[in-house]
Amino acid sequence: MSTLNWSEDLVLNLPVLDHTHEEFVQLLNVFGDTLDRGEDALPAFKALLAHTEEHFAMEERWMAATGFEPENCHSSQHAMVLNVMREVVRYAEELGDREPMPIVRQELAQWFPGHAEMMDAALVYTMQQRGFDPASGECQEPALEALAGASGCGSTSCGH
Ligand SMILES: [Fe+2]
Ligand SMILES: [Fe+2]
Repeated sequence: MSTLNWSEDLVLNLPVLDHTHEEFVQLLNVFGDTLDRGEDALPAFKALLAHTEEHFAMEERWMAATGFEPENCHSSQHAMVLNVMREVVRYAEELGDREPMPIVRQELAQWFPGHAEMMDAALVYTMQQRGFDPASGECQEPALEALAGASGCGSTSCGH
């Protein structure tokens, strides 16, 4: 059974990001399937981690280019998720403890849709407001910092 199903709700209408998110879901499912078969799931998990590092770094480059503060709650959430994922690898490799793997599988499946629909969607909105082109890395509207919120992740739960 899939760990997480791709659905229209996850589409943010930014093809490069939607593609990356589809890959994330696929890699999470490969990891989950490997666990279900009782095979060594660490390589699949490390592939997911490597992909997630790139995925978050791409979003953080876009945040920097569109005027988010370096410390904002969207990037903090990325950092927290990467920390957890790296800890899971460390537990498996250094301590021989693989019990966190099925737990992180469920946690990532629960976490991802909310993150995409709130924080990633807010980032896409800001990029659109700024006329930001992910291919060139340029904003057409460099003076609209006030409109872009200049800082926050766009989430109402965020204090920025
Ligand atoms: Fe994302
Ligand atoms: Fe994100």
